[in-house]
Amino acid sequence: MGNIAWTWLGIRAAGITSWGLLTAVVLWGILLRTRILGHAASPTRLLDLHRWLGAVALGFLALHMVLLLFDAYLPFTISQILIPGLSSWETLPVALGVTAFWLLIPVSIVGRLRPRMKNAGASLFQRTHWLAYAAWPFATMHYILAGTDALESWSLALLIAGGALLVLGLLARGFIPSPGPTRAAGSVVVRSSANSNK
Ligand code: HEM
Repeated sequence: MGNIAWTWLGIRAAGITSWGLLTAVVLWGILLRTRILGHAASPTRLLDLHRWLGAVALGFLALHMVLLLFDAYLPFTISQILIPGLSSWETLPVALGVTAFWLLIPVSIVGRLRPRMKNAGASLFQRTHWLAYAAWPFATMHYILAGTDALESWSLALLIAGGALLVLGLLARGFIPSPGPTRAAGSVVVRSSANSNK
């Protein structure tokens, strides 16, 4: 244990935490959209948690990437961390992770600007949110192909549990019609009042 670099442990711990949180963010988004939990969870609380999980997931992802710059065994350059395909080590698995990172950036930026964009930003917000769904398979393939521990039994259990929950959530999203937005990313959606004025 004494010879194991702390950066290597940190990279792996931050990566796995980030993946778990990313899975939870997508799940919370589905819960918010479908309201499967009914009165057990208010949309406002679900939205707050969804945003909070997203911010923490990005924080751990940033840590995962920054620690790679300091790893003595696998030293990465800034361009290898930011540009898919430049890593000489496990080029494709790392490129999948870098792609997942870039898919998450517009979601995060538009989510933050959304309250200031009023209704005009709604379609942009929805379109960029699809990128979060797209980021998940990239991040998961990256985890499976690049991870030292990916095929350990605890890691497989985590991957299967996360994947199964997402599949169930997506099935529910397909079968349960959305009750319609009440509040999107901090702004009040005025659809119902607009309708009532007709
Ligand atoms: C959403 C984006 C990402 C997620 C969720 C993620 C998550 C993970 C996970 C779970 C592992 C496996 C840890 C293990 O079991 O050892 C891992 C490994 C790794 N990731 Fe990422 N990652 C992401 C993006 C990136 C990016 C942008 C880079 C930049 C180069 C990167 C570089 C690496 C490397 C080099 C490893 C191998 C570490 C090792 O096991 O030695 N990842 N990542």
